[in-house]
Amino acid sequence: MRIVYVVGTRPNFVKTAPVIGALRERLPEGRHALVHTGQHYDRLMSEVFLEELGVPEPDYMLEVGSGSHAEQAARVMERLEPVLAEERPDLAIVPGDVNSTMAAALTAAKMRIPVAHIESGLRSFDRTMPEELNRVLADHVSDHLFIHSPEASDNLHAEGIPADRIHLVGNTMIDTLVALEGRFRAAGAAARLGLDPGGFVLVTLHRPALVDGPLLPKTISRLAALAREMPVVFPVHPRTRSMMESVESEHPGLLLSEPLGYLDFLSLLADAGAVLTDSGGIQEETTYLGIPCFTLRDNTERPITISAGTNTLLGLDPAAIDQIPTALSQRPAEKPEPPPLWDGHASQRIADVLAG
Ligand code: UD1
Repeated sequence: MRIVYVVGTRPNFVKTAPVIGALRERLPEGRHALVHTGQHYDRLMSEVFLEELGVPEPDYMLEVGSGSHAEQAARVMERLEPVLAEERPDLAIVPGDVNSTMAAALTAAKMRIPVAHIESGLRSFDRTMPEELNRVLADHVSDHLFIHSPEASDNLHAEGIPADRIHLVGNTMIDTLVALEGRFRAAGAAARLGLDPGGFVLVTLHRPALVDGPLLPKTISRLAALAREMPVVFPVHPRTRSMMESVESEHPGLLLSEPLGYLDFLSLLADAGAVLTDSGGIQEETTYLGIPCFTLRDNTERPITISAGTNTLLGLDPAAIDQIPTALSQRPAEKPEPPPLWDGHASQRIADVLAG
């Protein structure tokens, strides 16, 4: 069995690392080739993650870098095709919903290489999000669709995808979180920043709808107001950093930092009193950890984090940030159970399906 795994961005590494581990264990004689497209390339966005996750050195670095959606996807396709021609894999595995995912899935499918999609079936039903197009396209060219919640199956059925391609296995991002739990609980990131556990808000923002336009300065000023009530820690994604520099926004009282490594980030997440985000994965991680999450978006492709988790959709209006202190004071004390199969063993279930 020859397998090529294609990753390109921070969340891709987190979702794929345990799958590589499980399949290497199950198929020790197989070929397991890792391709890094280079969509994320800064040390803090890439290498640090691979090191902390214990992912082996990629066998191929495509170095596609940043660019428009078309440029990025085209570079992935052009540079991945010869790799797949050389490797001749029995299977290509792609995670998530980023440009690298879609481009890799399409390249493999056109070469008649079976494709397995990790985190399949999520839908925001908002085609202005680049990720939504990536999800739909990746799912429709995939042969094995691994889903982590029942609504993903409904979404795929509604689009005519046959049931025998769909496998409810659980959440591989949570596999990584579970595997790292001892290390991130001991990392003490909040203490290093002088923060009391449970006494601060952790913020991440990087979606174009929020950070690429006029909503960013408004968001920053609402965060500054929130910081007068409790410390606000904000590790800044490079996209957001460059937009903040271009609008020269003031950010009094905010604890801004470079992007964090995964262990430090999870350490802060686990100790946060609340999280404000527009990320998808963080909605899931907070649900697993039982930390209140406020999502600054109009929709989510992860509704299970609302119905069965700790997520609240605030909408895209930054004024909603003002509601956070009251919402926190009114929350029930008990933490909900994580969704079924978010248990640290999703990757083994994927390996069972694929190796079988
Ligand atoms: C991408 C994904 C998004 C995912 C996010 C995770 C797409 C369409 N978007 O968004 O779904 O949630 O990754 O973080 O695939 N940059 C750097 N260094 C880096 C990477 C990016 O400086 O290592 C800067 C560049 O200015 C670049 C910008 O960030 O133009 C955006 O990077 P890009 O990969 O295009 O999109 P993300 O916003 O990271």
